[in-house]
Amino acid sequence: MELVVALVSDLHFGPEASFGGKLRKLTGEAPELTRAFVRRMNEVTRPDLVVNLGDDIEDEGPEADRERYGACMAALRGLKAELFHVAGNHDVIHLSEAELLSAWGRPEATRLHYAFDRGGFHFTVLHTRERKDHDISLGPEQLAWLGEDLAASPLPKIVLMHHSAADQDLRGNRWFEGSPHICLVRERRAMRKIFEEHGVLAVFNGHLHWNHLDVIRGIPYVTLQSLIENLDDDAPGRPAAAHAVVRLGPKRIVVEIEGAERARYQFDRR
Ligand SMILES: [Fe+2]
Ligand SMILES: [Fe+2]
Repeated sequence: MELVVALVSDLHFGPEASFGGKLRKLTGEAPELTRAFVRRMNEVTRPDLVVNLGDDIEDEGPEADRERYGACMAALRGLKAELFHVAGNHDVIHLSEAELLSAWGRPEATRLHYAFDRGGFHFTVLHTRERKDHDISLGPEQLAWLGEDLAASPLPKIVLMHHSAADQDLRGNRWFEGSPHICLVRERRAMRKIFEEHGVLAVFNGHLHWNHLDVIRGIPYVTLQSLIENLDDDAPGRPAAAHAVVRLGPKRIVVEIEGAERARYQFDRR
């Protein structure tokens, strides 16, 4: 029995903007790239579930964010597969946790971290919080909850989060070279220890706008490229159109990165 999980990240619905005078995020193409992802999932991949790893918007202001986040959710709701969400840093600047939970169709929930079981696997969703230009943290309460949540489940475990818990070599990353504090979670060593103690199979995240794989003490940490990243240096632009298809099987995990930059990773389950 195999569970197929599709991942998409950093959809960034928002206005056209340049970064350092260059067009780096193809925000204007986000709605169409999202619709194309939804079509591919529904017609070709047919995953059991889809996870949105966060940063759905560009944080323009409360009203614009509400509208853009709503547009992103509406596009993703075209998916036939069950859909789960992770909160990204841009999503929580102007929108409240209650607004996000309501947009996620979880109005009864009170927090953005949660867990669920599907197809014989336990999925733990974290909410890493970014203090702009300062740091990214899970915080002591959620760190304690993470240990308890993983300890309580006998199932094989997958962790989903927006920022990274790996120690990535950031050389060559357009957005974060020389700035680990705004892409890697401060408590990452403690988190990895918890993942190792509880036999986590793999960890998936977005945020860094590149494809990157770290294997640390046998656990793969997979960073997924942004859906709307411009793979060229400037305009007119060539969208990454990235998403991942993760096949969780009894003996191995196979990850296929689809879009303009393709890759394939395979891990045997210990
Ligand atoms: Fe992002
Ligand atoms: Fe982000």
